[in-house]
Amino acid sequence: MQSFQKWNSHDLRPFLKKGPAFFYDLDYLKTHAAHMQSTSQHISHGDLKLWFAVKANPLSFIIDTLKENQFHFDVASLGELSQIMKVGVPGDRILVTGPGKSEEFLNLAFHHRVGTIVLESVEQWRKIIPLSKETGHYPSLLIRLQIQWEQGEKSILGGSDITPFGMEAGDAKIVLQELVGTKFSFLGFHVFQWGNILSATKLHSIWKQTFQFCINLQPQFQVLDVGGGLGIPYDPSVSSLDWESSIYPLQELKTKFKIPQIWMELGRYAVGECGIYATKIIERKQVYGKEILVLEGGINHLARPALIDQYFPVSVYDPHFHFDLTKPLKKYSLHGPLCTALDFLGDHELPATLAPGDILIFHQCGAYGFTESMPYFLAHPTPGEVILQNEKLKMVREQKLANEWLV
Ligand SMILES: Cc1ncc(COP(=O)(O)O)c(C=O)c1O
Repeated sequence: MQSFQKWNSHDLRPFLKKGPAFFYDLDYLKTHAAHMQSTSQHISHGDLKLWFAVKANPLSFIIDTLKENQFHFDVASLGELSQIMKVGVPGDRILVTGPGKSEEFLNLAFHHRVGTIVLESVEQWRKIIPLSKETGHYPSLLIRLQIQWEQGEKSILGGSDITPFGMEAGDAKIVLQELVGTKFSFLGFHVFQWGNILSATKLHSIWKQTFQFCINLQPQFQVLDVGGGLGIPYDPSVSSLDWESSIYPLQELKTKFKIPQIWMELGRYAVGECGIYATKIIERKQVYGKEILVLEGGINHLARPALIDQYFPVSVYDPHFHFDLTKPLKKYSLHGPLCTALDFLGDHELPATLAPGDILIFHQCGAYGFTESMPYFLAHPTPGEVILQNEKLKMVREQKLANEWLV
């Protein structure tokens, strides 16, 4: 986790005049991305390819930083594909995934000559045949498999539940048969059902079962794409997942099962730690003895707490050392401005003298923040987006007031 103090050395206030904002530290992201690339290339001898799952944060500046650090890009919608094309990502660095591939999305993907398509159903396979004939483009294909796991765990991606992601083994065999004699090349499999895992041992166990399942289905193939799922801690007392310890088991499995290349599509682990969300306190009150802080922004900008009951770590923005952190902290319940009890951002211990106008910083907000939110509910301002690059802050998206978007 990045230091809580980091943002105190920057003047955030001018960016929060119209409302809350996300801030992304691109200098940190650059170092983090370079470290991920160099370590994984070193450990895998160049056989581990890193893709960025654009859904985690499609901001052009984030994409550009990762593009400069040799990342490839996984897109799951027409919007994501258009966005990375705007940033200048060439087709051979793009992989198209997702259970909902519209005609328009596939059309653009074929015209941009994307390198790889992940097939999530027999129907998707049959849909791309005429597009290839029309464009003369034959992308490499991965088949996404859905495995039925014995442990009954859930995850935001479905875990062991049955979901629309990927196909069962029987359908994969149909696609493999129909592929024979065509101009398409079958690259391998894609399996990904778990999110935010913080244990290298657990990742190893999931990957081991995945490798075995795929090899049982088809003894030889070129690529296994294990998706994302690497976690970041949202509780400051939990330690971060060590990148090297996660990569080594993949390298071992790759050698054991004789699979030439492993791909990973990272979202949260790639960009989660580079971002914060900052919002002012608008009211402090006590209700039946409970100390409550009402904030200018809440789950309308950061939906994760409402979706999975997990809260972001919080600190107070304190550039002038105004708060005496040697005094006992106070327990507050943090609530956003929406008229629903769902707008709860957790119970947190913070300085006892907090007052309206003070700013709170939510950490680990670089992934699944701005675009995973529900900004229009109750017509509050939409959040701004600010980048920190070469130690300078720059607003790249201003907050919008309701009169700028309500019709
Ligand atoms: C196909 C696919 N790949 C990669 C990711 C990124 O996952 P994570 O953020 O856990 O790394 C997702 C997330 O939903 C996904 O659906």
